[in-house]
Amino acid sequence: MKFTVPDYIQAIEPYVPGKPLENLEREYGISDSVKLASNENPLGPSPKALAAIRNGLAALHRYPDGAGHLLTRKIAVANGILPANVVIGNGSDDIIALLVRALIRPGDRVIVPRPSFLMYAITASAAGARVDAVPLKDLAMDLDAMAERVTTGTRLVFVCNPNNPTGTVVTQTSFDRFMTRLPEDVVVVVDEAYIEFASNPDCLITGQPSDVNRPLVTLRTFSKVYGLAGLRVGYGIMPASLAELLNRVRPPFNVNSMAQAAAAAALDDQAFLQQTVGLVHRGLRDLYDALERLGLTYFKTEANFFLIDVGQPADVVFENMLRQGVIVRSMRAYGFPTYIRINVGLEPENRRFLRALETVLSQKEA
Ligand SMILES: Cc1ncc(COP(=O)(O)O)c(C=O)c1O
Repeated sequence: MKFTVPDYIQAIEPYVPGKPLENLEREYGISDSVKLASNENPLGPSPKALAAIRNGLAALHRYPDGAGHLLTRKIAVANGILPANVVIGNGSDDIIALLVRALIRPGDRVIVPRPSFLMYAITASAAGARVDAVPLKDLAMDLDAMAERVTTGTRLVFVCNPNNPTGTVVTQTSFDRFMTRLPEDVVVVVDEAYIEFASNPDCLITGQPSDVNRPLVTLRTFSKVYGLAGLRVGYGIMPASLAELLNRVRPPFNVNSMAQAAAAAALDDQAFLQQTVGLVHRGLRDLYDALERLGLTYFKTEANFFLIDVGQPADVVFENMLRQGVIVRSMRAYGFPTYIRINVGLEPENRRFLRALETVLSQKEA
């Protein structure tokens, strides 16, 4: 078949998502497997969100509210901002896509940290942008180096806080310095997909009313702490003029009615949020202790996932862990060939992971 494809599309390396449990069980003929590969909420969805979905089922023949009034208003109240500062998306991935669609022409420059969430570079590249990837320093975002990379062609800069996959955070002080170094027309996107898990008191948190005078965008998601990854709903907080622009290029029904209802209900479910954060913090302490006993190097995190150096090819460990029914993420594609990333699971899942890892690493030594 013949068709013409732009070079910049040909050059894109596809995003490889975490392996779904069903595929693993089918391929390996096992059951009761455990997935710790996609930073999901091990408690499941917020119960209030589930109730909202049940209530909304009978209206599925209707189109969703294209403006997402109820959800937008709730997000605004929760963050102390105005509805005009909010754009809702089919996951925060969608807000990244809308920003790129609204702001980027082929040849424009976009700065991303590396390694970080891969969709920044993929989405920008798909619009023909030139992506300037700035390496992390000691696993953390190097904001000084990122500021130095800004040129007259730079339109967008992505900051991931906490950073996926390293779990490190940016401090308020270093971010303030960074902002003073940037030209005022460069749009800065701070992705706070995991911000609810951060406990470092110096951690930057954006999305406050005082922030919305500069072209600063905060990305948040319902996929992680609220447990709604499968529904696909996230949002951006930004100056009203930028929100208005994104809404021009946003398909009117990008967030389906179940997602809108569930997300609005989840925002009211602070008990579930607290329960999730508590579970993750306890799980991290237990996992760190156990890994220390095993003599493995790991990297403390401010998110619900962290990196472990398994001291041998991570792709092999990933495969052998699959055979034990545990899905982890190899970090080879992120430039860490001996690291795996796991997210915190339920207590029995964490124990199962530790047993599997011990088995896999001892097999290799035998
Ligand atoms: C840093 C970061 N940002 C954004 C996302 C995408 O989230 P969503 O499910 O809202 O599209 C992820 C998902 O893993 C992520 O790790």
